Amino acid sequence: MTKVLINEQLLEEHDAKVPYNDRGYVFGDGIYEYVRIYDNHLFTARPHFERLLRSAEEIGLDLKHDVDSIIELVQELINANGVVNGGVYIQVTRGAAPRDHAFPTPSVEANIMAFTKTYDRPYKQLEEGINAVTTEDVRWLRCDIKSLNLLGNVLAKELATKYNAKEAIQHRGDIVTEGSSSNVYAIKDGEIYTHPTNNYILNGITRRVIKSIAEEKQIPFNEETFTLDFLAKADEIIVSSTSIEVTPVIKLNGNPVGDGQVGPITKELQEGFNRYIDTVSS
Ligand code: PDD
Repeated sequence: MTKVLINEQLLEEHDAKVPYNDRGYVFGDGIYEYVRIYDNHLFTARPHFERLLRSAEEIGLDLKHDVDSIIELVQELINANGVVNGGVYIQVTRGAAPRDHAFPTPSVEANIMAFTKTYDRPYKQLEEGINAVTTEDVRWLRCDIKSLNLLGNVLAKELATKYNAKEAIQHRGDIVTEGSSSNVYAIKDGEIYTHPTNNYILNGITRRVIKSIAEEKQIPFNEETFTLDFLAKADEIIVSSTSIEVTPVIKLNGNPVGDGQVGPITKELQEGFNRYIDTVSS
């Protein structure tokens, strides 16, 4: 039976319930992280949980855990569920309290919940690429916080699905920001371009790995904003995240990206990413 972690207790899935007045449910008042598991090993767990602590701090939520104790908690859940390949979500809310926008006074305990997923790496789409569409970024202005409040992302992804695409690439006006659940890269003349890490995007952990691979391979990695037109004329486009890794985009709004094939820089980054997984998972 699959277990779910609720406030340090491992419960059977059907017993894992959160209160009706939990602020995560009522306001989306909480934060989360998603960490990949490759071959029994948590992948880049430390930066993920450091980001969770940062998100908590940014919204004034007292998590009462440090990175090591969070790793311990989720590891217990992963072991209980016997996850070999998959991932673990950890979600933290400001707790349950009578409905009032202002923080509860006196404060209440945060609710911590974690659940696992089991699945293999997305080999087919890594090899063949995906379709993407573009859409206006209508989210709030603190996209650096990994908030539970994902309505803008949900609506963007739903639009992509409607157009038979796997990802929606968002833009604020003319400037490309990020995907509905990924970071975005345009590759032009052998150089990588991606939005700088500020309040308009999530500082992706996969993005950091890609940056280090690019540096190692001496591929210029430009953290600069770029326009929709630049994206449309790119030689290659990539979207990245914990779940989709280094995924090539081969069609944008129905038009082929570059020559419509997975490009050489994408392949180099994928090769570097595979090696990185092997070294940290062994
Ligand atoms: N999402 N930008 C957004 C809006 C995201 O939701 C994600 C990841 C990323 C990539 O971040 P990272 O490389 O740290 O996973 C960028 C995860 C996978 C999710 O919500 O499930």
